[in-house]
Amino acid sequence: MTEIIHTGTIAHLRSDPFAEENALEIIERGALAIDPSGRIASLGERKTVFDAFPETQIVDHGNAWLIPGLIDAHLHFPQFYATAGFGNGLLDWLDNTVYPAEARFADATFAKTAAERFIEHLLACGTTTAMAFGSQFYAANAALFEAAGRSGIRLIAGMTLMDRNAPAALLGTVDQAADATEKLIALCRENPRLHYAITPRFALSCSPQLLELCGWLLKHHPESYVQTHINETRQEVAAVHAAFPQNRHYLDVYDSFGLLSERTVLAHSIYTTEAELDRMAEVSCVVCHCPTSNAYLGSGLFPLRRHLEHGIRVALGTDIGAGTQFSVWRELSEAYKVQQLQGFCLNAGRLFYLATLGGAKALGLEREVGNFETGKNADFFVLDYEEDRYLAARLNRCESAAEQLFCLLHLADERHVDSTYVQGRLAASRKPL
Ligand code: GUN
Ligand code: ZN
Repeated sequence: MTEIIHTGTIAHLRSDPFAEENALEIIERGALAIDPSGRIASLGERKTVFDAFPETQIVDHGNAWLIPGLIDAHLHFPQFYATAGFGNGLLDWLDNTVYPAEARFADATFAKTAAERFIEHLLACGTTTAMAFGSQFYAANAALFEAAGRSGIRLIAGMTLMDRNAPAALLGTVDQAADATEKLIALCRENPRLHYAITPRFALSCSPQLLELCGWLLKHHPESYVQTHINETRQEVAAVHAAFPQNRHYLDVYDSFGLLSERTVLAHSIYTTEAELDRMAEVSCVVCHCPTSNAYLGSGLFPLRRHLEHGIRVALGTDIGAGTQFSVWRELSEAYKVQQLQGFCLNAGRLFYLATLGGAKALGLEREVGNFETGKNADFFVLDYEEDRYLAARLNRCESAAEQLFCLLHLADERHVDSTYVQGRLAASRKPL
């Protein structure tokens, strides 16, 4: 077996555009050589790459763009069919829409099919790395990891743990949580693209005993991630203060159970105080911004600039099912608008970074994914706008490739994803595979 070369317009971030100028690289007549193990062998102008790898199979994508696989750092597997559910704010929406939908995943056959569809759908949107809340039911989570393993997607996931404030069908005991988590951690060890995340749903769903177990699990499995929610709505924050009066702030609840590390991903973080930002920076934990979810539930505007000023890594998530669509690409356009409303204007490179190299750094995966650096996994998707007459005409009027990328960031979506590759292998395609 030899290399394979893909050609098209190639766009990626070489480094952090918030820290460095010229981090964005666009190669208009570009080529990407992929070695037989599915890693990037070379990136450059076509002629240079062709000369370096003569007599290599070429997959010519014409005028389409080759983009690093998108990173969705927060979504919920058992909310796959719970999008666009009615609710008056987070807590009402959870009670009335989400918990009944999540209870369906007790049915292992239903959950298995849902897992296949879920992974297929992510790949069809160009997502090649996802961090997901799993189900409350062991079999559904095993099905999720198995579906991910078959597809090749990189998945970080964990059993959603809760033992209070929800219907009994969704609650588990501390012992059940410990047992299922240990088994799922063992399952993830079999595949380097599967990672386990200890997943206490949020402070209001968990007793101190359950949070203590989560801290214990992290201590004994330090390679694990932690994922949870924080400071999403004012009503939620007030309820957390009432439930944990001994803690100084919301973050302190998680902190006091040993749940904060550089692999801890906290979703939302809208109403985070200066003291919490300081502590997040101190422990190097990560925040995930979920723009459509925050707008849909009326949660609020994410203060990106404040987080960046504290040196906190920020990733992007669709937060399905509070988010209204599965495309991280579309989520970028919404993230842009949320920052515009706060007077923070993101250029194409900075915006693009959040869902690619920035997401990879946030998840500690920058040695594996996030851009087209030699040696990284060849995870990418092909963005093809040729059949969209308006978009093709709009791009024709741009004066530079960077301007085209900016237009694509706002005007393209999952319907323009022609195909998605993981480790150099075709994993999703608009044409039948
Ligand atoms: N907080 C606790 N659970 C959830 C959830 O499922 N979605 C969102 N957006 N916030 C939460
Ligand atoms: Zn969420």
